Amino acid sequence: KSIVEKIEKIQILACGTSRHAAMVGAYLLEQFAGVPTNVYFASEFRYSPPPVSPNTLTIGVSQSGETADTLAALRMEKERRDSMNDSNFSFHHLGITNRLDSSLARELDNVIDIGSGIEIGVAATKTFLGQMLSFYGLTILFASHKQKRTTQEILDLSNDLRLVPNQILDLIKKHDALSKEIAHMFVETKDVIFLGRGINYPIALEGALKLKEISYIHAQGYPAGELKHGPIALLDQNVPVISIAVPGLVYEKVLSNSQEAKARDARLIGVALDGPESEMFDQLFSIPEVSEWISPLLTVVPLQLFSYHIAAHKGLDVDQPRNLAKSVTVE
Ligand code: M6R
Repeated sequence: KSIVEKIEKIQILACGTSRHAAMVGAYLLEQFAGVPTNVYFASEFRYSPPPVSPNTLTIGVSQSGETADTLAALRMEKERRDSMNDSNFSFHHLGITNRLDSSLARELDNVIDIGSGIEIGVAATKTFLGQMLSFYGLTILFASHKQKRTTQEILDLSNDLRLVPNQILDLIKKHDALSKEIAHMFVETKDVIFLGRGINYPIALEGALKLKEISYIHAQGYPAGELKHGPIALLDQNVPVISIAVPGLVYEKVLSNSQEAKARDARLIGVALDGPESEMFDQLFSIPEVSEWISPLLTVVPLQLFSYHIAAHKGLDVDQPRNLAKSVTVE
């Protein structure tokens, strides 16, 4: 059996934006390739790791490859597995990084270089796309070996991925102007809620993180179905809601969750298809109709532009936001 065939479970350790990419990866690995996968905050994993499971692949995701929590969590996992001296519990591992010259790349035997080029801005953007792409590659690898998907399904995913670079270019051209145009509406905004479901729930989290980091606006991402379990109490005309609603498994559900927000007077911004359903949105970042599997690669782009333009409009330093470092090398 090859290692890929042997792996029964995957655990991913990461922080911040890298963890959001890992969550998209976990969705793909479980739902497309059929491999049970968990994502951990590296900082939490260090002090409350799950019981050691057999035939498990541990993946560390870090743009910089220098994040102290991620490195320490990986070292700890290696140590506890090595000390068991049992081949069923070996430390099968993989790093995903943008820096081949990093500690992570030096310490691990198997590394995917996302090759996004040096990222200068503290807020990770292009490397988030690069990290997600690595997970698409892994998903195709696991799906091929686990025989969970037909050859045609795997081919369709690969072919869809080939179209993504041009689709992203189009989105940037289209939405740069719109983000700039609406940025002024957010100068006084104190709170924003991002909604997504399924594979786009991590994109809601990432949209909220970008807004906090560079625009200094408090934002929270929620799985849209959770709105009615508490956050809906926050909604009024001063709390805009950004809803990621793309066709697929949970499309109708997200649309109806968005409608609930609208009924509470929230300004509703859609990252959605341009069609009859999108009429409920006060502003629309339109997305082309693509397979739901690849949609996160597109839905995140307008959200990155949106945060950028609000920050620029407020005269903030978009590359070097206050209180943040590009890599967090302390616990
Ligand atoms: O270098 P890493 O990917 O390990 O960094 C992890 C986080 O510190 C990082 O993603 C942080 O959240 C970024 N500033 C996000 O834009």
